[in-house]
Amino acid sequence: MKETEKIGPLLQAFHKECDAAASPGEWNDVRVKYLGRKSVIMEMMKLLKTLSPEDKKTLGKEVNKAKAEMERALEEKKRAVESCKGQIAVDWTLPARGVLPAKVHPLTTVRRQMEDIFIRMGFDIRQGPDMETEWHCFDALNIPETHPARDEQDTFYLNREKMVLRTHTSPVQIRTMLEEKPPIYMIAPGRVYRNDVPDASHSPVFHQVEALAVDENITFGDLKGVIYAFLSELFGSGVKTRFDNSFFPFTEPSAEVYMSCFCGGKGCSVCKGSGWLEIGGAGMVDPEVFRAVGIDPEKYTGFAFGFGLERMAMLMYGVPDIRYFYENDLRMLTTM
Ligand code: DAH
Repeated sequence: MKETEKIGPLLQAFHKECDAAASPGEWNDVRVKYLGRKSVIMEMMKLLKTLSPEDKKTLGKEVNKAKAEMERALEEKKRAVESCKGQIAVDWTLPARGVLPAKVHPLTTVRRQMEDIFIRMGFDIRQGPDMETEWHCFDALNIPETHPARDEQDTFYLNREKMVLRTHTSPVQIRTMLEEKPPIYMIAPGRVYRNDVPDASHSPVFHQVEALAVDENITFGDLKGVIYAFLSELFGSGVKTRFDNSFFPFTEPSAEVYMSCFCGGKGCSVCKGSGWLEIGGAGMVDPEVFRAVGIDPEKYTGFAFGFGLERMAMLMYGVPDIRYFYENDLRMLTTM
């Protein structure tokens, strides 16, 4: 029968056009052309009524099969074309839209760099609790009850008796010396808390990196050498250091540590014209501290220092305000 012979080529043509439809409009054109009122399939349906029962059965079966196949193909195609808004085909070759990859926070990056340098010099990493006893935070460090650092204006006192949020990482020195015997070479990076009003250089929570070396015959020269080696690794070999005299209850003698400014000493807004940047405190461990932890000050000497992590990161990245580190502004996080 010649009608059944038409179905094969018809399906072929249909599939070709259906596959090529790239928008809801084109899809509809195909639907109307092949299944609409004036389509070949519908003409054949009408024709069925006029056929003999035998022919009706043969053609009817073929037509219904073809119609179902077309409907299925159109239904599948519909989902694909509906995703193209306003008659525009999907262009699979377009580049993907920019994605923001996860990134390590700049403070973490600097902390890891610092840890790495000290580990290579033979220091171990130690940690202590953020909630400290007054004894570890002050008394054992030779900071008397009358010292201004213990003032409520600086220290967050906790409701529990004799407990504070540590104001510095120096109590980790005490904990380490109580637990370990010399030789001790350790650093303690960590969070510290002070009751300060936030401004460009103050934050009530910030980070320090504490260092402690206890051994026989440790000298102030060792302290200077380690600090110089550390700074030249972190900032480059052109860096210079300067030690100014200072006072900390837990070191004797004590020093304020400076490094040469990135302006090369000419003077700029970062160093306020001085050519030097203050980066922390240092000194030789006071014999009183050794006595508090049961280390013989006649046999051992030691040095200690404490640097501010934010201060390091601000210098490294040229960040003018400490608060930028905690605001998670993507403009800052993605550029570091
Ligand atoms: N703990 C001091 C502070 O927070 C910093 C410091 C100074 C640490 C001298 C030291 C040191 O280990 O020897 O201001």
